[in-house]
Amino acid sequence: MERKKRSWAEPYKIKMVEPLVMTTREQRLRAIEEAGYNTFLLRSADVYIDLLTDSGTSAMSDRQWAGMMMGDEAYSGSENFYHLEEAVREHYGYTYVIPTHQGRGAEHLISKILIKPGDVVPGNMYFTTTRLHQELAGASFEDIIVDEAHDPTSTFAFKGNVDLTKLQSLIERVGADRIPYVTIGATVNMAGGQPISMANLRAVRELTAAHKIRVVLDATRAVENAWFIKAREEGYAERSVASILLEICSLSDAATMSGKKDLLVNIGGFLAMRDEWIYNEARTLVVVYEGMHTYGGLAGRDMEAMAIGIHEAVQDDHIRARVGQVEYLGDQLIQAGIPIVLPIGGHAIYLDAKRFLPHLTQDQFPAQMLAAQLYIEGGIRAMERGIVSAGRDPNTGAQRYPKLELVRLTIPRRVYTQAHLDVTAEVVMDLFDRRDSIPGLEMTYEPRYLRFFQARFSPLQ
Ligand code: F0G
Repeated sequence: MERKKRSWAEPYKIKMVEPLVMTTREQRLRAIEEAGYNTFLLRSADVYIDLLTDSGTSAMSDRQWAGMMMGDEAYSGSENFYHLEEAVREHYGYTYVIPTHQGRGAEHLISKILIKPGDVVPGNMYFTTTRLHQELAGASFEDIIVDEAHDPTSTFAFKGNVDLTKLQSLIERVGADRIPYVTIGATVNMAGGQPISMANLRAVRELTAAHKIRVVLDATRAVENAWFIKAREEGYAERSVASILLEICSLSDAATMSGKKDLLVNIGGFLAMRDEWIYNEARTLVVVYEGMHTYGGLAGRDMEAMAIGIHEAVQDDHIRARVGQVEYLGDQLIQAGIPIVLPIGGHAIYLDAKRFLPHLTQDQFPAQMLAAQLYIEGGIRAMERGIVSAGRDPNTGAQRYPKLELVRLTIPRRVYTQAHLDVTAEVVMDLFDRRDSIPGLEMTYEPRYLRFFQARFSPLQ
């Protein structure tokens, strides 16, 4: 009898390894105390399985490492820049490319170019650095994502979609001339790595075009979004991920990119656009903040690795295995009855801290504590994505209370094995068994910007 099932096994094998250190519970308790119960402040040498982020943590291929040796470290006009420009044109379809040191460098430039004080920038949920750059440029952010995105139990297939009624009524309320652009995240990180559908993106494009409002794509994980469109949206099953990616980008005017995610590099990003006017403005500004427009804060070798990473990232076999690994971990947790955000997203599993620790109020930072406990229990490092990340309203200083109070177990690309994911699932289950004994936290130090990176906490008694 012929077997039909084929697993998502990785389309690569391992050539070099990086040894990990196992620590004792006592060592981990000491380390988390020293880190102020903030996993960002742990030393990575004290971490066993590092699921803090998928940003800059990917394993590069032998081809990318070979490319690193081909760095043309000229101050301007580096060959590697032209390779990057070609790869972006081929797979993202934009005419102009400006390298930046990472995604937020591109967000800074586009915010400064397009926003004037008093503007409103709508988006399908906020991302921390994106929103802050918009606010620093004088805009306020307006969330126009569908309501399902704020409900961790909703299994809607495209929780990254824009609610067109919310967008329409915002345009009516503030006027199109105060909306320089709409930011579209693909996928939506803060909602759980959830995709936007092509049909919805097309509708956003039509509505905004009617009002001469631009669309700026956050293309950081757009390859993962393209995979979900292939897997879930009618009419796309037979299409290549590369062709779907091009279609996504064709519905936007510009894109900000953190190459540290989809593009399989440890550092790098870019701003890309079709409009020559934006390009000329960006070319002028990038010199002030990043560097010449042919390197933007990157070494030639970094641009080469990113150019090669673009070609690798859009391969169907690669992305199937990448998302397959995330689903493998998520399925284990679902089987065990652990409350996670559904459906399983593209780059991470998000534990629902409100349901995991229902005895804590949001002011007691349940997700922050759950992340700390994962570390104490098994040396696993995760990230809070809840009230600490949401921060304060810049005008009133009032605490924001996001509906989602999550802990993100983020899977770096091509780094961990199935056995690492098994251990991770076991640690989460052990913690779930003793969840009633976990106390809340109080914040003892709060930085002014992006407080989640450096805030400190201590346990409540
Ligand atoms: N946009 C999205 C959707 C992101 O997830 C990130 C970074 C950025 C922009 C900014 O890019 O870090 O290169 O400046 N996300 C990381 C994370 C930090 O852990 O999710 P950057």
